[in-house]
Amino acid sequence: MLNVFVPKESRPGERRVAATPDSIKKLLKAGLAVQVEQEAGLAAGFVDDAFAKAGATVVAHAADHWRSADIVLKVGPLGSNPSLGIMEVEALKPGAVLIGFLDPFNLPVVRRFAERRITTLSMELVPRITRAQVMDALSSQASIAGYRAVLLAATRVGKYFPLMTTAAGTVTPAKVVVLGAGVAGLQAVATAKRLGAVVEVSDIRPAVKEQVESLGGRFIELPLEESGEGAGGYARELSAAGLDRQREVLTRHLAQADVVITTAQVPGKKAPILVTKGMAEAMKPGAVIVDIAAERGGNCELTREDQDVVHQGVLVLGPTNLAAGMAGDASVLFARNVAALLLHFVKEGELAIDPADEVLSGALLTHHGEVVNRSVADLVTAAKG
Ligand code: NAI
Repeated sequence: MLNVFVPKESRPGERRVAATPDSIKKLLKAGLAVQVEQEAGLAAGFVDDAFAKAGATVVAHAADHWRSADIVLKVGPLGSNPSLGIMEVEALKPGAVLIGFLDPFNLPVVRRFAERRITTLSMELVPRITRAQVMDALSSQASIAGYRAVLLAATRVGKYFPLMTTAAGTVTPAKVVVLGAGVAGLQAVATAKRLGAVVEVSDIRPAVKEQVESLGGRFIELPLEESGEGAGGYARELSAAGLDRQREVLTRHLAQADVVITTAQVPGKKAPILVTKGMAEAMKPGAVIVDIAAERGGNCELTREDQDVVHQGVLVLGPTNLAAGMAGDASVLFARNVAALLLHFVKEGELAIDPADEVLSGALLTHHGEVVNRSVADLVTAAKG
């Protein structure tokens, strides 16, 4: 019987877990055995007893299970783990299968996966096709990030979000500008609207205008001579001139804003700078910027990862793991995504990895000692030069 191991996450601040009692029941039903490291789910609200009741074995001595597991389910990328005494990538047995957000463009680690003959499936690479929607962890976690970014801003800005009529007079609603209307941005729009704010949105993909408007947001028209629509419905990088034109238009909107939520990303690239230092200086003192793109370099020039920056009265927050702050639901959704991907290639309790399968051909990062994802393999070859 194949052994699935769910370790406790090692990244500082990571509160999520890659399996829940419910997702474990599905894995057991498919003929797998599951071991969960002691206290792996505690920070997300899942106690050891709940895992045991679901049918998992709760284990101490994680190192033994890292070494013996056939399949390891992880939230964050592998890193150093004080309880192992070695890097996590060195702790897996050759031939083991690893699933999680593996940071697939971190080439040294990817090369090591291949050298050590670990089969890796990266949640970031799951193709965004209809039948893989249930496995789309980027979306499930980005939606939480968008939601929490707005809540974070609401608790830090010195203003009500809704219009308030009080005995002491009327208070106008907050003005919120959302930059980037992908999964996180659209959830930010919906959340800010629910709280009663007036919301404006900028994106370079014209296709999102309708979605923004259906949520009650106002779409900021950009005088672009180029389309920001790239392959697969994603954005492509704007030219320097295009970005300048966008910034010019945004400056006027940001100057009126109480809150700015920035979520703009271009796959595989550093996040575009949409809010320069000068633009932030033109904003109202007391305004708050929450930069969800902080981990990819940030959309605001002033952003510092996981730090509060105050510049001329404007507060800039650069949280890098917003989903971990809502670890219960984030884990429930992530665990469903991961279980769906795993069960996609477990047939009658055995692994049936077909690299030609449309879902696997995207998500499979390394297999049989090779880097198999096409775009990552190209980067590895280019780096060898
Ligand atoms: P993302 O996180 O890569 O980017 C976020 C947003 O930033 C995108 O809307 C992008 O257009 C925007 N952006 C990039 N440069 C910008 C700039 N200079 N100014 C303003 N905005 C800029 O994208 P995410 O959220 O992961 O997905 C984006 C799209 O992918 C979705 O809206 C959807 O069309 C598609 N998608 C499809 C799915 C499916 O078919 N199952 C699932 C999820 C997403």
